[in-house]
Amino acid sequence: MRTTPWWRDAVVYEIYVRSFADASGDGIGDLAGVRDRLPYLAELGVDAIWLTPFYPSPMADGGYDVADYRDVDPLFGSLDDFDALVEEAHAHGLRLIVDIVPNHSSSAHPWFQKALASTRGSEERERYMFRDAPAPAADGGRREPNNWMSTFGGPAWTQVADGQWYLHLFAPQQPDFNWRNPEVREEFLDILRFWLARGVDGFRIDVAMGLIKDAALPDTEPGFTSRSPIWSQPEVHDIYREWRRVLDSFPGTRVAIGEVWTDSAEDLALYVRPDELHQSFNFAWLEAPWSATAFRKVIDDTLRSMTSPTWVLSNHDVVRHPTRYGEGASDPSMGLARARAALLAMLALPGSAYLYQGEELGLPEVRDLPPESRQDPIFFRSNGELLGRDGCRVPLPWSGTAPPYGFGPGGSWLPQPADWAGLTAERQAADPISTLSFYRRALATRREVVGTLPGGITWVEAPGDALSFRRGPLTCVINCGVEAVALPPHDRVLIASGPVDGTDLPPDTAVWLLTD
Ligand code: GLC
Repeated sequence: MRTTPWWRDAVVYEIYVRSFADASGDGIGDLAGVRDRLPYLAELGVDAIWLTPFYPSPMADGGYDVADYRDVDPLFGSLDDFDALVEEAHAHGLRLIVDIVPNHSSSAHPWFQKALASTRGSEERERYMFRDAPAPAADGGRREPNNWMSTFGGPAWTQVADGQWYLHLFAPQQPDFNWRNPEVREEFLDILRFWLARGVDGFRIDVAMGLIKDAALPDTEPGFTSRSPIWSQPEVHDIYREWRRVLDSFPGTRVAIGEVWTDSAEDLALYVRPDELHQSFNFAWLEAPWSATAFRKVIDDTLRSMTSPTWVLSNHDVVRHPTRYGEGASDPSMGLARARAALLAMLALPGSAYLYQGEELGLPEVRDLPPESRQDPIFFRSNGELLGRDGCRVPLPWSGTAPPYGFGPGGSWLPQPADWAGLTAERQAADPISTLSFYRRALATRREVVGTLPGGITWVEAPGDALSFRRGPLTCVINCGVEAVALPPHDRVLIASGPVDGTDLPPDTAVWLLTD
């Protein structure tokens, strides 16, 4: 009898809806496309799926600019499609998590449109962060209300017709809400209830550490720190306490995972308290370079401070990890071997793991997208200096030998590389040593053993730049060095991320060993 709540050791698969599968033929992924591929996800062996925003949106930031929090954008389908997806996902034994974007709305949201049409000081403006700026300096110096910069580049303030400014920590089309306004808080509690009543199993909270800003809006130092006037203000925790009460008031176990960027595991842990969020993404794992020492430090910090650890290697905002790991390597193709090894380490650790669509196919970052196809506001706001995030958002290759590789009956909103024919799900499913077959085996093996493992790990001394830890009968060894290392005594090799002869572990490889 299983006693651990499902989310504590779940494997959750992120679906970037626009790029997963397109059923309608317009070149953009949709909810019906997700529904068609549920058998693939069930066979892959994940426990839950997380859908990125599918709400009505002008798509200034891929849908993270929401104009209506209680509907589906016609690009992605309808509420009926959503309801059918929830039902069918559950029938496949998959939980479903949706993305909620509370830090900002779209500038097309009726509330923001009303704010623009109203006067300074009005109730309508009080739902957002409108401010007057001090008179400009005599030398024509800075005029914005403070020196905050948008995460996407440029000032975080935009001026409106009557001279006031509004705050947007992201694009100008993403005005920040005023979370000190009870009306905003009530509205989001109601939005949570709306989706919970439709059967969702939880929420991924976008920019969860940004909702409350220091009330004085003081200038900041450049660079990111989690103790800045912009991020992780203490009152943000009151919001999640309220949200937790709503989640707990629904039948079953409904969960919340925060997108929380911090610079310490201790700060991250503040979000994951028994009356707040269930989990936060552990981005330190994703940020660690390919090094046993770096991995060990993240694991130690995480297990010391987090009651419900999580692990993540890729998502729709970062360079895909086979490419990242290939960057420091003498041969970039080592990146994929390392990515497979890192997966085994992550799946052996206590807690839950978040996968990003396409990593099971070993997809690399696409760096050479034509500039005219790019859509990420980061690319435009940096005048093309930063490539932005489109390279990890290229639509998935499912089958066939030419683009759009079965993504849908039309084209694909970003062009797919001409050499992806060997990476399609169809091709890899037929190949026992493909990355897809490896992911399926790894997830199936984890399912068999995970319930029998203790909650903590014990480090085992390992030679060279290798890392080895034990959880009950399972030992995981990952070799981050350049020389093979001897495997510790064991009874059986459960699974390896690459070829292993039984006595030695080659570089860039990980293995699970069983001691009976
Ligand atoms: C989060 C999302 C990212 C989005 C940003 C603004 O970081 O993951 O894709 O651009 O929030 O909503």
